[in-house]
Amino acid sequence: MKLAVIGTGYVGLVSGTCFAETGNQVTCVDIDESKINRLKSGKLTIYEPGLQVLFERNIKQERLLFTTNLEEAIKDAEIIFLALPTPPGEDGSADLSYVLGVAEQLGKMITDYKVIVDKSTVPVGTAERVHAAIAANAKTEFDVVSNPEFLREGVAVDDFMKPDRVVVGTSSDRAKKVMEKLYNPYVRQGNPVIFMDERSAEMTKYAANSYLATRISFMNEIANICELVGANVDFVRKGMGSDNRIGQRFLFAGVGYGGSCFPKDVQALERTANENKYEFNILSSVMKVNERQKVVMVDKIKSFYGEDLTGKHFAMWGLAFKPNTDDIREAPALYIINELLAAGATVATFDPEAMENVLEQYEGDDRVSFEENQYNALKNADALIIVTEWSVFRTPDFEKTFSIMKDRVIFDGRNVFDLEQMEELKTYYNSIGRQAVD
Ligand code: UGA
Repeated sequence: MKLAVIGTGYVGLVSGTCFAETGNQVTCVDIDESKINRLKSGKLTIYEPGLQVLFERNIKQERLLFTTNLEEAIKDAEIIFLALPTPPGEDGSADLSYVLGVAEQLGKMITDYKVIVDKSTVPVGTAERVHAAIAANAKTEFDVVSNPEFLREGVAVDDFMKPDRVVVGTSSDRAKKVMEKLYNPYVRQGNPVIFMDERSAEMTKYAANSYLATRISFMNEIANICELVGANVDFVRKGMGSDNRIGQRFLFAGVGYGGSCFPKDVQALERTANENKYEFNILSSVMKVNERQKVVMVDKIKSFYGEDLTGKHFAMWGLAFKPNTDDIREAPALYIINELLAAGATVATFDPEAMENVLEQYEGDDRVSFEENQYNALKNADALIIVTEWSVFRTPDFEKTFSIMKDRVIFDGRNVFDLEQMEELKTYYNSIGRQAVD
């Protein structure tokens, strides 16, 4: 099939590449010329494991093209995907100006039947607004479909190629057939393509992300209570998760959720509720808990050293909001660094992928340094703080670690080490939802 993907951000690039991988002819379009030039030359603009191979292969086979010319990109396309940013506006609602702006242009450009698909996370009712924006100028038939994306950063290629489910919101049989054909190669193992109306599809995305965020905040509260009552959240998680109704996944306590999706989507759903004069009480708590959890490590550090951290120097492993990504949007690490600096401390950081994205924020600030590897970050450190659970942090050379550090103190925001091991190593070890090892 011939496809156009408008917007070469995270979702656009992954979707475009993965659609090409099953033999579709995909043209990706963006207004950013330098980005398009970079992509044309085979250089990805995001870090995503496994994407580069597919990306290069499909460019080479000429199934994946890039252009800044919207009209040219959509001319022969049967399906046009909108993978445009929907940043939160000042009041927390999603800003639809990019989506609606492009829709208006499409209305003027299309000359034959097109299926126009919303892939961005957009508030309920957007498909209708997109439809209206196109219809204002369109001289031909078209359908607007809501097809939210559920891929996770870090495992996006796998999530896209083998989705648990595909959600398609459309009230048109013609569009339904086109979407069925498109997704057939991705659901060969029998996972469902679930068809529904546009509004329900839009709602499904917000409900899924908000529910997952709720699970995390819930587990973070359980962890905080575990610490107070002498329980261990790792055991509690396993015990709970073995109930099939609950499930094992997504129950890890930590330093809160970050990234470009959960914080934005939970806020936007609350906003939608408010607009409909409904008070979504759970969501307000989910956000409140997450705000507090992001700096829970700082509270622990302060109760260990005292409120004033002047003269204290910390090593920090991990900056990205989660492993296997260079994304630092809403990353708990940044909140922790700022709190530590405000209390008078200095920080030496290491992250396998995300450092370049953080550098700019601390340019000229010699209180924060970015080190070449995880061991360099430990030099003269009073304590090590672990914020992102990259695999490379899980089995460090402890002898080397403690020979470099000033003191044997670890604050672990992701529970990457075993308590027994820390006891054996005679380390002060304070993690999440577990008793501190002294
Ligand atoms: C999330 C959803 O998982 C995807 O399904 C969705 O498509 C995507 O948002 C989106 O809306 O585009 P993502 O933000 O890439 O994906 O990352 P997740 O793996 O979901 O992690 C989000 C945050 O939750 C991270 O900060 C992570 O550290 C935290 N988390 C996750 C926990 O604290 N505990 C857990 O058990 C799981």
